[in-house]
Amino acid sequence: MAIDGSRAAPPTDPPDFGTREFPAALVNVTNRCNLKCTHCFVYRDANPNASIDKMNDATMLHQLEVLRDRHGIKSMLFMGGEPMVRHRLVLAAMSLFEDPSIVTNGTYGIPSVPGCLVTVSLDGPPEENDAIRGQGVFDRVEQSIRGRDRGDGSIVMLQMAITKENSPGIERFVDVVADWPVDGVAFTFYVPRKGERSDLAWDTNQERDEVVERVMALKEAYPDLVRANVATLRLMKSDQCGDHIDDRCALKAMLPLYVGDGGVFERTFCCYGNDVDCNRCGAYAVFNAARHRQQGSTPGPTTPLRD
Ligand SMILES: C[S@@+](CC[C@H](N)C(=O)[O-])C[C@H]1O[C@@H](n2cnc3c(N)ncnc32)[C@H](O)[C@@H]1O
Ligand code: SF4
Ligand code: SF4
Repeated sequence: MAIDGSRAAPPTDPPDFGTREFPAALVNVTNRCNLKCTHCFVYRDANPNASIDKMNDATMLHQLEVLRDRHGIKSMLFMGGEPMVRHRLVLAAMSLFEDPSIVTNGTYGIPSVPGCLVTVSLDGPPEENDAIRGQGVFDRVEQSIRGRDRGDGSIVMLQMAITKENSPGIERFVDVVADWPVDGVAFTFYVPRKGERSDLAWDTNQERDEVVERVMALKEAYPDLVRANVATLRLMKSDQCGDHIDDRCALKAMLPLYVGDGGVFERTFCCYGNDVDCNRCGAYAVFNAARHRQQGSTPGPTTPLRD
């Protein structure tokens, strides 16, 4: 495979993130994206997100390998920006890890990575999705999904990030995608900025509860398609969610790698960046990991989507 930077100076080593073990990590392989989703945490001001790719492929591969060995990283989630913008790099980098996965907006086609989880983001039925992700995006993603080779061994899941604004569409979304060639539909909830008051964020977790209950009802109605665990959803309810966030957040055991100015990896406060409101965190993965912790099992970053 041709990767850029192969004739450049030898790749530099990554920064020192200490000696802690991180069985799971995520990496934003690019800060570039072809969409401008209204809810996206990546492009918030407080995050490393300058849109020029300053870390070439050879350096990124080298640094990911060094970090893997330093921190014992087994699971790596490939993100961005849109990771498929650098698809050749991503496919090469996935082979460095025991349990690689990718989350993509699906507009560049669905990557074929046998045995790996490929999460494709859609944020509701056509109208609600396109209000967030852009006109015509739902149809493009549907075409990519329907055009994929279902027998290629990739585990393809749809993921809807539920906001206050698109929440009326969750039942219609499941209805619309029920016959698509995918392995499941996952839900996660909006992670707001500190102090955010907007149409996307619930002001209180009590207001979010009725939507969490509707996801539970969807799980009951579509037990095989909807990849949510009811015990996890219970932990997201307002009477319990406060016990699993902030310092107790299980996702703090994950190393988030963003590319900062000058093309140097930066570790952000959490996977959702620096400016986040833990008290209203809706990340399904946080509560699913908490549920696994209660049960004495250890989830990787892909586990949340596999229930
Ligand atoms: C940041 S995107 C990067 C990968 C790819 N561009 C995509 O859209 O799937 C990763 C996931 O985060 C979700 N997301 C973005 N902003 C969010 C937020 N504020 N709260 C919760 N999820 C969010 C997206 O919907 C997507 O499923
Ligand atoms: S496609 Fe992904 S990275 Fe791009 S703006 Fe949307 S959520 Fe953010
Ligand atoms: S915002 Fe959510 S994922 Fe990030 S540290 Fe807080 S509780 Fe954890």
